[in-house]
Amino acid sequence: MKIRKFETDDDLAEAVSDYILKLIKKKPDATLVLTSGDTPIKAYRLLAQKAKPEEFEKVCIIGLDEWVGVPGESEGSCRYIVEQNLLFPLQVNSANYTFFDSVASDLEAECMRIDQLILQRGGLDFIIVGIGLNGHIGLNEPGCSFDNYCHVSELAEMTITIGQKYFQSETVLSKGITVGLKHLLEAKTAMLMAAGTQKAEIIEKTVSEPVSTALPSTVFQSHKNGLLWLDEAAGKNI
Ligand code: PGA
Repeated sequence: MKIRKFETDDDLAEAVSDYILKLIKKKPDATLVLTSGDTPIKAYRLLAQKAKPEEFEKVCIIGLDEWVGVPGESEGSCRYIVEQNLLFPLQVNSANYTFFDSVASDLEAECMRIDQLILQRGGLDFIIVGIGLNGHIGLNEPGCSFDNYCHVSELAEMTITIGQKYFQSETVLSKGITVGLKHLLEAKTAMLMAAGTQKAEIIEKTVSEPVSTALPSTVFQSHKNGLLWLDEAAGKNI
């Protein structure tokens, strides 16, 4: 696990956008999993400004997770966040990206669809994730298996409560559909991005506690090329 700290969250966003752009320039047909959440938004906006649409012609982008039952057009969905901040501004062809259909009647089939896509593409080149205050990665909650590929998860109480911040009105959240930690472990590069003092404690635990499914973010300690990119505030205890 390689840790890098940046002075401000703006510096972090600059660096993350540069990293993704460089990766795409090096491998134009790269397969990427992109996270939702507040943390990556600045980086996505910068990437949309820096990249040229043609640089995304062969890229395949997969959304990390979705709230089950919350449609992709909703402001709190992964699809919405990535589309609005990156894919729409860059006019990426919709054939180049996909997200879990969180309102599908057969969610298992949805998981298999994304698993198959990742397999057909020869695995993930890059996955970027945020971190929940309970150490969740995507919607892999405490107690989840590191051997899971895409799956439906039961949301932790903390995730249900904090998840309301993405919605303008109260929204019922109970399950998630998510790329699993096995995909993360198999990805060529996995990046955890965190900003702000509220993340300092969980980041400290992520690097110092034993690797355990009780704290999914510790999976980064086991990754062959795991990157922990933080601003000073999130990294202040390490
Ligand atoms: P955040 O979410 O970027 O909105 O803090 C992170 C997460 O829960 O994975």
